[in-house]
Amino acid sequence: MTNTEAPIGVYDSGVGGLSVLRALHSQLPFEATLYFADQAKVPYGERPLEEVRQLAEGVTRMMMHEGAKLIVIACNTASAAALKYLRDLYPKFPFVGMEPAVKPAAEQTLSGKVGVLATPSTFQGELYASVVERFAKDVQIFEATCPGLVKQIERGYLQTPLTRRILQQALQPMLAEGVDTLVMGCTHFPFVIPLIQQIAGEGVRVIDPAPAIARQTERVLMQHDLLRSPAAEPTQRYLTSGDPSRFSRLLEQLLGVRAQPERWHWVGDSLLRG
Ligand code: DGL
Repeated sequence: MTNTEAPIGVYDSGVGGLSVLRALHSQLPFEATLYFADQAKVPYGERPLEEVRQLAEGVTRMMMHEGAKLIVIACNTASAAALKYLRDLYPKFPFVGMEPAVKPAAEQTLSGKVGVLATPSTFQGELYASVVERFAKDVQIFEATCPGLVKQIERGYLQTPLTRRILQQALQPMLAEGVDTLVMGCTHFPFVIPLIQQIAGEGVRVIDPAPAIARQTERVLMQHDLLRSPAAEPTQRYLTSGDPSRFSRLLEQLLGVRAQPERWHWVGDSLLRG
């Protein structure tokens, strides 16, 4: 297999990274992808950053072994925990990671008040602190962790009363303060944007970073001469450390994709197929 034929690895604790995969497929339709959902360990957002770093390292080794030419860490929590570490560990290998989109939000807000929705671990990481320090000097930031929301989305409950209640509790205080721009700082959350928009009203702008991440991935592929040329249909592989039939139902619900996901499992720090 030539380098350009190799897949882009895309990784999240669960189905959240599918919001990024969707944008990658539309930006880069000729690329093969290898998506891994660490559903045996989801949610990451309540685990210590050190544990998430170890998991991300295990996933990275597996993806490199499976031939990935670039890895998109389509998870804010894993990016907060491991992106810098992995870049230091594999300096020649291209990684693309997530960081909360505070910069575009600060540029777009009219009220000067921005809400960020992310997991507790993302808020604790240095990456978030540095983004706020660099880009949010002139705006006021309101943070919410939305406890339980990742689990609801993992069950496919995008519009249930409990999902609505979790979002109302997170959003109402910041909306009352005059927030007019909301940053999706967790890749699971774009799947509930319709509900967020219902609660917040159409006047509030919601920023999903996925299209920007897809464009960034294209730039990095170009820099490394790794873009795949339009040839035969690319293959899309889906892997989970959880239950493949449940993941398959979610793939259909969230992306409209029909696939037979592969089952992988953790043995110590390593992922094995089967
Ligand atoms: N989708 C992830 C993120 O972007 C992780 C959510 C979780 O597993 O808690 O942070």
